[in-house]
Parts: sequence; C-alpha cells; structure tokens
Amino acid sequence: MRVLVVGGAGYIGSHTVYELIKDQQEVIILDNLSSGYMELVHPEAKFYHGDIRNKSDIENVFKQEKIDVVMHFAAKIIVPESVKEPLEYYYNNVEGVRILLEVMNDFGCKKIVFSSTAAVYGEASGICKEDMPTKPINPYGETKLATEKMIQWVANAYGFHYVIFRYFNVAGADKSLKIGLMKDQLTHLIPVAIQGILGIRDHLTIYGNDYPTKDGTCIRDYIHVSDLAYAHVLGAHYLLNGGSSEIMNLGSNSGFTVLEVAQAVNEIAPLKYVIGDRRDGDPAELIASNEKARQILNWVPKYTLKDIVLSDYQYRKKISKK
Ligand code: UFG
Repeated sequence: MRVLVVGGAGYIGSHTVYELIKDQQEVIILDNLSSGYMELVHPEAKFYHGDIRNKSDIENVFKQEKIDVVMHFAAKIIVPESVKEPLEYYYNNVEGVRILLEVMNDFGCKKIVFSSTAAVYGEASGICKEDMPTKPINPYGETKLATEKMIQWVANAYGFHYVIFRYFNVAGADKSLKIGLMKDQLTHLIPVAIQGILGIRDHLTIYGNDYPTKDGTCIRDYIHVSDLAYAHVLGAHYLLNGGSSEIMNLGSNSGFTVLEVAQAVNEIAPLKYVIGDRRDGDPAELIASNEKARQILNWVPKYTLKDIVLSDYQYRKKISKK
C-alpha cells in the first residue's frame, strides 16, 4: 500500500514510518518541519515539505502520488500551550485536518488513520473504555475531540472509513536508536526522569504525592512508541481490507505510579527526586482498556515499562553526545 504520513518527521510519525517500511509499504511524508526533524525521516520514504493548512501543498502531493491511505500526526500537543494559544490549536489541529479531508475527498482517497488522545476523556479516572463519555478539560483535548467528530461526519457524508486511535502515555525509542523524542523542551515524565540520571537536569520533581492511589502519586498507562506505531500499520491494513470505521484506545491495560516509573529509571542509574505541588489538570489515574484494539486488530503491546525506560535512556544518551 501507499501511505501518506502527514507529520512523518515528528516523534510518533517517524516511528510509524519505520514500522511501515519494515512492513514493506511505500511511504510518502508531508511535514512542515515545525516540530519535526529531517534526521528523523527514513531514507526510503519520499519527503514533501509542506503545511496541511495550505491546500495547494496537499494537492501537490496528491497530484504526484497515488495514495491508498492517509495517516495524520501533524498536531500540536502541548497541553499548557493549548490553554495559552487556543486559536493556534484550533487552526492547526482542526482546520488543518479539515483541509486535508477536503483534498482527500477531491482526489477520491477516503481512508484515514487519525491520532487522537486520552485527553478526550478529561478528568475520567480509572480504566477508560472507548464508549465512555468524552469531556476534555483543555483546548488540546477539545481540538482532538472536535476533529474526531469532524472525521465521523465526513465519513457519514462522503463514504470515508477511519481508524481513530486514542493514545495514552507514549514513550521510548526505536530499537535502532536512529529515531526518538528529540525535542529541546521536554515535559513528559519518562524523558525528564532520564535527563535526571544523565546529569542534564539535577532532579525530577514529582507533581504531588497526595492523590488517592497506592503511593499517593498519579497512575498512568505507558506504551512504547514502537508498539503504538505498529498499531497504525495494522490499522491501515484493516481499512484496506474493508474494515469498518472504529475508535480504539492504544494503551497497555495496566498502570504505573509516578514513583514506580522513578524507581524503574533509578534501576538504570541513581535518580534524585523531590516532591512538589500538584500540577493543574492531572487526573489521579488514567488506564486504557485495550480490549478493542486486541480484538479488532489483534494488536498486543510487546514492550514493558522497563523496555520503554531503557530505550529512552539509550536514545537520550546517544543524542546527548552529539
Ligand atoms: N510528572 C511528574 N513530573 C514531571 C513530569 C510529569 O511528576 O516532571 C507526572 C505528571 O504529574 C503525571 C505523570 O507524571 O502524573 C505523567 O505526566 P506526563 O506529563 O508524562 O503525561 P500526561 O499524563 O500529563 O500526558 C499524557 C499525554 C498528553 C495527553 C494526556 C492525557 O502526553 O498528550 O496524557 O491525559 F493529553
């Protein structure tokens, strides 16, 4: 199959491209490089520089390439930034996809695998199932939910088929260590803790230890980026084999507290941590039910928390030497 990966130079996009190429698929990337990097682009993928908010940039790709299925990763994803700049988030995350869908419809390409997020569940605590009510608590989650709904209405009107994946806490790096999370400003728990053991930062601050959990710190469901990426390969095959439209969580069915993650990192090298105040908007516990992805796609995550943490460590150590 010929897959257009929009945002294929970013963290999750690049890992998906690697998995698609391992699966011997043809990959075309469209990326504006606003938060992606050319060094994450797989050498066998065809690269177009462009922005999905410019209709002509997408048309340019469709005029030159026959595309069977589109995958979309080109979103802004930083929750506090979305609170400060909601219009920018709606413009990029919703309007960008609206234009993409318009061009796909014009060219008769009607299959899409879309990246959504656990943030659509909002404050929901516990095990999240796809049919639970969605109540985002920040503009980032709202833009993803709005786009999920837009895709559903477009599917209804023009005969599109979609797989919408709701990601839980993604981390780690491809085992080749050629690609990984490259951002300068890291905020997520695992890379921040890893920076703590690499001496890039002095310590990890744990945001609150008075939550109603076993050790008082928040519980999250961590998923290896390569497991997540591979689900997209399965999702694309599913659509091309005539699968019906579905929304599916991508997580591991299990959760770890922040202290347990810190402990896993501490097993690699000593990690200093301090307990700080709670961070705004953090639910106590978020765990994915992944039964649906298991049943429909036969997807089973194969990496453990230990693998996730170790691969991020190895990648971060590698890039810190550059
Ligand atoms: N945490 C710390 N210290 C840090 C960083 C994080 O204690 O330096 C804690 C957080 O308070 C939270 C947990 O570690 O309890 C995980 O935090 P992350 O920032 O790594 O991830 P989030 O759970 O906040 O965010 C993830 C995705 C978002 C998505 C959200 C949905 O990255 O894109 O889940 O709940 F919106």
